[in-house]
Formats: sequence, structure tokens, C-alpha cells
Amino acid sequence: LHVAVLMGGWSAEREVSLMSGNGVADALESLGHRVTRIDMDRNVAQVIAAARPDVVFNALHGTPGEDGSVQGMLDLMQVPYTHSGMVTSVIAIDKELTKQALVPHGIRMPEGRIVECESLYAADPMARPYVLKPVNEGSSVGVAIVTKEGNYGNPIAREAKGPWQEFDRLLAEPFIRGRELTAAVIGDEALAVTELRPKSGFYDYDAKYTDGLTEHVCPAEIPDEIRDAALAMALKAHQLLGCKGASRSDFRWDDEQGVKGLYLLEVNTQPGMTPLSLVPEQAKYRGMSYAELVQKIVELAL
Ligand code: DAL
Ligand code: MG
Repeated sequence: LHVAVLMGGWSAEREVSLMSGNGVADALESLGHRVTRIDMDRNVAQVIAAARPDVVFNALHGTPGEDGSVQGMLDLMQVPYTHSGMVTSVIAIDKELTKQALVPHGIRMPEGRIVECESLYAADPMARPYVLKPVNEGSSVGVAIVTKEGNYGNPIAREAKGPWQEFDRLLAEPFIRGRELTAAVIGDEALAVTELRPKSGFYDYDAKYTDGLTEHVCPAEIPDEIRDAALAMALKAHQLLGCKGASRSDFRWDDEQGVKGLYLLEVNTQPGMTPLSLVPEQAKYRGMSYAELVQKIVELAL
């Protein structure tokens, strides 16, 4: 096959996407495919039209590779591509829209509130501790946990102009104490549950992409009941949103509350494929190499 790997772009996760994309491209070459690596810029449609690939491997993260724009463009061009389609991407990139789509179907998610950046200078949007996050970023870009004592992550807007000044919309959610879990779905199967144990602070950008800063426990050492609930929620969310190929659902689990303490935070439709990423790690645990995983995602697109 001739596979065009779309990567980079201009989102806040550009560097992560380059790592994902080059990893995927190397694997595809090792499998004998012809690969065109495309660092996305505004001429991407012309570049793809000229390359005439059989399929596009979308290794973009964040906007506009994960928000439906690129998917809509590829639909118009009638080029098959990996991962979710346009409508799914539009919903899943937006953590508030995701809640509106999933909570009525019985998926437990924290009760959030959209807040204006400006209002943060006047008052807390809810009782501390809470989490502030841009509605449509990935990799914890712009996330802060505001506690009684202060905050982790970015300086709170009230005390110093926080970087979220540049984000469109912010979501405030009550902070769920306890543990950080994640589960990947490939095709129609949830693979495993991993627990992320950052060595300090929370699972922020640095903890995600610096080797040694976070312990990944796969499979997570949690009760079977919690594991099964997380796997079922990840699969149900994947199906309700109409995800394709691969997705990864992220959770917080309040371990004092049993299964009622399990909350879905979001569904990632373009999960990372870097050397430290979680989907390849879960695939490996299930006996699938990185190259086999890449091949499988391509096959699901055809
Ligand atoms: N947003 C990053 C790439 C992830 O979900 O893995
Ligand atoms: Mg995300």
C-alpha cells in the first residue's frame, strides 16, 4: 500500500504528533509499505492530491487534525483515512459536547461548567478542589488543578494571568480524588486498563512525555469489578460516539467509592503513538507489536 502519514501541523501538540507520525511511518516502512510523510500545513489538500495515496494514516493530535476539519477534507477528497470520521471527531474533541452525548446514556462523567476566562479573576467557578481545562486541547495542555492550598499546573488566572487566556473556552470540573486510569479500544475490543502513577504532581504534559516521570501499571492493580467497568465504559463510549479504528478513554477512579467512583473524563479519537504512549503499550500487553497495531489500524480504515 501507499500510505500517507499526516503529522505535525500547528496544534499545541505538534511535537507529540511528529513523534507519533514518525513512529508510525517507520513501522509502515518496516512492513514493506510505501510511505509519504506529510508535515501538515495549509496546502495539505494539494500535497495529498499530488501524492495520491491509497490511504491516509492520521497521526495528528489536537486541532485541526483531531477536530473533524481534516476528516471533512478527506471525505470531500474521497481518500480513506484511519481513525474516526468527521462528526465523531467534532464531538469528541470537545469535552463538553462529549458529556452531552454520553451522560444521557448512563456514562458517568464529572459535572462540568463552561467558564469565561475573565470570570476567574473574580471568583472560583466552583468549590475547590477543581480542575480547569480548555474544552478542546489534548496532552493536558493548559490544564490546572486548583486546590485549597494553591494549584498544580498553570498559575491560577486570578493570581497571575494564566496561559488559558489564549484558549477559546474553559471547562471547570470538580477534582476527582484517587487514581488515574485509561483504556484503549481497537476495532470492537477494549484492550486493557492501565494506571498512571506520576512520580510527582499530576499526569501533565511533562509527566506524559518524559521517560521515567510516570509509572505505567499495565494491567492496573485494581479490583476486577473496576477493571471490567472501565473496559465496558470505554467500549460503550467508543460505540456511542461512533469512533473508528482506535480510541482511548481516560478515567479518574475515586477508590473510596467503589464502582460509583469511576468517572470517564474524555475519549481521545487520535490517541498518541509515541514510544511512551499508552495504546501501543496495551497492544503489546495483548500480544500485538507496535507494527502489528499500526497495520491493524490501517486495515480498519480500508
Ligand atoms: N492527546 C494525546 C496525543 C493522547 O491522547 O494520547
Ligand atoms: Mg485528550
